[in-house]
Amino acid sequence: TTAPEMSDTGPEKLLSPVLSAFWDQPDAWTLETYRRHEGYEGLRKALAMTPDDLIAYVKDSGLRGRGGAGFPTGMKWQFIPQGDGKPHYLVVNADESEPGTCKDIPLLFANPHSLIEGMIIACYAIRSSHAFIYLRGEVVPVLRRLHEAVREAYEAGYLGKDILGSGIDLDITVHAGAGAYICGEETALLDSLEGRRGQPRLRPPFPAVAGLYACPTVVNNVESIASVPAILNRGKDWFKSMGSEKSAGFTLYSLSGHVASPGQYEAPLGITLRQLLDMGGGMRPGHRLKFWTPGGSSTPMFTDEHLDVPLDYEGVGAAGSMLGTKALQCFDETTCVVRAVTRWTEFYAHESCGKCTPCREGTYWLVQLLRDIEAGKGVPSDLDKLNDIADNINGKSFCALGDGAAAPIFSSLKYFREEYEQHITGKGCPFDPAKSTLWA
Ligand code: NAI
Ligand code: SF4
Repeated sequence: TTAPEMSDTGPEKLLSPVLSAFWDQPDAWTLETYRRHEGYEGLRKALAMTPDDLIAYVKDSGLRGRGGAGFPTGMKWQFIPQGDGKPHYLVVNADESEPGTCKDIPLLFANPHSLIEGMIIACYAIRSSHAFIYLRGEVVPVLRRLHEAVREAYEAGYLGKDILGSGIDLDITVHAGAGAYICGEETALLDSLEGRRGQPRLRPPFPAVAGLYACPTVVNNVESIASVPAILNRGKDWFKSMGSEKSAGFTLYSLSGHVASPGQYEAPLGITLRQLLDMGGGMRPGHRLKFWTPGGSSTPMFTDEHLDVPLDYEGVGAAGSMLGTKALQCFDETTCVVRAVTRWTEFYAHESCGKCTPCREGTYWLVQLLRDIEAGKGVPSDLDKLNDIADNINGKSFCALGDGAAAPIFSSLKYFREEYEQHITGKGCPFDPAKSTLWA
């Protein structure tokens, strides 16, 4: 991972890392290290407020969900009905699986107490006494580390009964998933947590009304919750002084692919890929950027014409894509776009849960067409057919996975139609896979 020291030069006001400030220390993940870096100070400030004031404070900070959709965090907390006599739950979505996205896992590995502290604050706000972390099952070392951090927090009196003498109680359960991408969709996650097969539920009702065990539930991303302690400790105005008007604060960008220094880069929202590449030493030597994703493969791809798009919700949206998970996968000129899209589409077809026909059948047929085109067996009408199938998935599927599968098809046809045509007229792929490290 990379957490560069940033300066306050350049068009955006940059900052010193917050979430990744001490990831490079050998004992970064321990309670002792966390306490040396303002750990659990935000919680003390939160407990001095009423839950309603706390929700209003987080709302005013402008914090938006870091899992991809950018929904205002404070507003989500406010949706939880009060005085309803039902248990309320906080569920942290740590099932990070979007291709190219790798920010929550290192955050949990290096700084798990920021999440635990944020969870205690959130549970105090929404009046919850039981919270869950749903972790991607493959990351066993992170699971162990989380268990250990939760144990440390119980021992220090941050979890359990009467936290810090406040009279509030909280238990945290860490649960490992079983490797299905769809269980990152919040309602499939809830089904899976309840012990059922993970498939999306119809929304509404949203989890805020009927979530875990049909009770009001907040589902938040790891990074969203881990950002809360610093907001409380340093103040909402400090947080709002970073980023842009509607996309406040700092965030983690996952830079990957053909770049000189891949890793996690903590920076304000609104920074550009050009600035991030400047910090990370640019593309690999001797090569230039061809295409990239602003937020994982489910977000429409960009090209080198989009290097100066502000990486915030509004900027990326205005340029025709979505900020998503801020997974910046960068591909250079050695990469065949048809091959990249085929690999992504194979992933979506494999991970489609099968509940709805447009996604289940559509992703299958997209893969067949793409494999044919890549193998030089395509015909000119295949391109319209690709577009047509993607059109029948997009907006017509039950959950966001379908739209995500359609996004790379539309955007690659928009920017690289000629490359698809070359595969068809030239009866095969014009690229040499040996020259691209991605396929090695
Ligand atoms: P969404 O926009 O439908 O919902 C966002 C959040 O706001 C949800 O928690 C939802 O419950 C809440 N919400 C929305 N309207 C509401 C209302 N009227 N009342 C109460 N709550 C409301 O987005 P969705 O489908 O939850 O997530 C899609 C995003 O997930 C995509 O943008 C994608 O980037 C991201 N994603 C992230 C992955 C990861 O690994 N982190 C994997 C795949 C997708
Ligand atoms: Fe399942 Fe795909 Fe339909 Fe989502 S869009 S419910 S993943 S089949």
